[in-house]
Amino acid sequence: VFHVKRSTPLDEVAGELGRLEQQGLLRRPAEPPPSGSVTFCSNDYLGLADRSCTGKAGSGASRLVSGDRPEHRELESALATWLDLPSALLFTSGYAANVGALGCLASEGDLIVSDALNHASIIDGARLSRATVVIVPHLDADAVAAALRSSTARRRWVVTESYFSMDADTPDLARLRAICDDCGAGLYVDEAHALGVLGPAGRGLCAAAGIGADVLVGTMGKAFGASGAFVAGGVVLTRWLWNRARSFVFSTGVSPVVARAGLAGLRAAQEEPALRERALASAAALREGLMERGISAAGWGHVVPWMLGTAEASTRMAAALTKRGILVAAIRPPSVAVGHARLRFTATARHSMDDVGRALDAVSWALSSVSRET
Ligand SMILES: Cc1ncc(COP(=O)(O)O)c(C=O)c1O
Repeated sequence: VFHVKRSTPLDEVAGELGRLEQQGLLRRPAEPPPSGSVTFCSNDYLGLADRSCTGKAGSGASRLVSGDRPEHRELESALATWLDLPSALLFTSGYAANVGALGCLASEGDLIVSDALNHASIIDGARLSRATVVIVPHLDADAVAAALRSSTARRRWVVTESYFSMDADTPDLARLRAICDDCGAGLYVDEAHALGVLGPAGRGLCAAAGIGADVLVGTMGKAFGASGAFVAGGVVLTRWLWNRARSFVFSTGVSPVVARAGLAGLRAAQEEPALRERALASAAALREGLMERGISAAGWGHVVPWMLGTAEASTRMAAALTKRGILVAAIRPPSVAVGHARLRFTATARHSMDDVGRALDAVSWALSSVSRET
């Protein structure tokens, strides 16, 4: 028996890049212009982007025009090196990254298999692509395999988060990788909530599973304390995004100040492992304390969801905790399905064990005060 290697979605993308090049339409990052050059293609009409009053925060144009800055390249190369991937491309936000990447990696007639609990930005990106979207039950790898096998679409993608931020759970990424390889599908993993915190040296859950995603999305707005986001993977991927991701091409480049802040956040996360250890230790203490109070927190890791069911129950509990100085978001529909409202505690490196103790005392108080009311 011999296997014919099936072409993957990114092989197709490589072909399309070749065609763009033949037609003279391929855009590439330009070399920095000679010093002393005069720019006649920025949108910095009043010349304020470089003034100290704006914090020199503007890049003045899309990166394809004149908005490309050394700060972008530095952060992209630091991210790619850290993740052991050939390249990365910055977007202004994780929302823009997913909408832009998915929007140009599939098109009409293609298939996107998407976890039922994927983030809104993934849902919107999949819709924009016009591909057929099959939504599979949460974490159901068998359903992913069945959806791929029953489709004859040319390009097929499996899209998932690595750490679901509302449920604090994780798909079997090694299994999804094997299923994708078997079917010639691409694996697209959004690690927005994992990077910096989970996996070996905080490098995420693909790294923990020992797999490579074809497309890996991360944001600088969560663990790295800045904003902006990136898509990382092979050179074919980032070259395609440079040419076709509309939220990248048709938008002002990420602020160089934000890129610098992102790099500083990444460096801190790399150099201070105590930060993620503290966040995870706080989460573990919080989970344990909730359990002692008869509450079973779902999932694992730094997000600790307390399932309450109704929107009313979760807002009432959140209000009671606020009275005790503990701020926790009540997560209600449409962020989660009807009947799945919850309180979502997130443990961070800023929490001390005293803070966790205070939160648990507040939970005890809230439980008794809510039960007195009802
Ligand atoms: C899985 C996932 N992807 C992307 C985003 C969007 O990231 P950003 O806040 O950088 O737009 C979020 C934000 O909550 C998210 O949870």
